[in-house]
Amino acid sequence: MTAPQSLDPALRRIAAEVEAALGDLLPTVEGGEARLCEAMRYATLGGGKRMRAFLVMETAALFSVDRHCAARVAAAVEMIHAYSLIHDDLPAMDDDDMRRGKPSCHRAFDEATAILAGDALQARAFEVLAEPDTHSNAEARIELVQALAHAIGARGMCGGQMIDMLGNRQDLAAEAIARMQALKTGRLIQFSAEAGAMLGRAPLHQRNQLAAYGRDLGAAFQIADDVLDVTATAAEIGKTAGKDIAQGKATLVAVWGVDRARAQAEALATQAAEHLETFGEDANLLRDLAQYVVSRKS
Ligand code: IPE
Ligand code: IPE
Ligand code: MG
Ligand code: MG
Ligand code: MG
Repeated sequence: MTAPQSLDPALRRIAAEVEAALGDLLPTVEGGEARLCEAMRYATLGGGKRMRAFLVMETAALFSVDRHCAARVAAAVEMIHAYSLIHDDLPAMDDDDMRRGKPSCHRAFDEATAILAGDALQARAFEVLAEPDTHSNAEARIELVQALAHAIGARGMCGGQMIDMLGNRQDLAAEAIARMQALKTGRLIQFSAEAGAMLGRAPLHQRNQLAAYGRDLGAAFQIADDVLDVTATAAEIGKTAGKDIAQGKATLVAVWGVDRARAQAEALATQAAEHLETFGEDANLLRDLAQYVVSRKS
């Protein structure tokens, strides 16, 4: 990880906290469905930067939310993220054999198991949000469920993934690519940044600031991912490198080239941090995260 000194231990600490929560919250069952649970755990535990979890935990800390409650929401977000990666890697989608430095879920198990593991991770994530331990106020839980569903459905992540798949076969302009990326990647990151405000029952103006931060951060994040696809090695990113060009993916790197794409990601990261002014020094780690997102090497 190339992270500023203060960010690095914070990322590690939260990753460990959320790993523990995931270990408790993911199912372990006996019987015929044990294989499904094994695949869910394989794809979710022991890897990933846990950036979305970090966003939930750090924005929740701004409003002094109980860490146990925040960790449940962070775990739910990481379950959704893992589900999205399992399905993204399937032969019908990006057809990637490697994820987080190990065989992707459908390679380690099989396609049917991978599809079901993604489905079951999604279901478990919503179940966790709805459980009373996540928040004492049922309205807050419903708000989380509704906002997450909106972020990842047809008008969010799945919609963006649809455009991404169609984009393999048609030329998209920069604006259309930015919209696709806002949906496929940005919405879940935005949700993660807003989650702290939802948990903390924060005033709307503060929630809106975090939403704006998450939007810009998400845009910067996906451009950086596309840059790394071109500039990094598979060993560094833990997934196949150079696959966007090979698959004719519509990316801003393809339209603008690496240098301009990188400059745009940096500008978006700076803009993201500017939305945090109202939180003062309490938001320093979130500011550092914005810089990390565009300077990371993995
Ligand atoms: C990869 O996300 C998928 C994209 C949205 C680009 P991450 O780079 O956050 O993946 P992990 O969780 O660290 O493996
Ligand atoms: C993935 O984008 C976005 C989602 C999983 C929703 P990519 O296809 O670029 O992600 P990687 O490069 O496979 O991680
Ligand atoms: Mg993809
Ligand atoms: Mg992919
Ligand atoms: Mg990518």
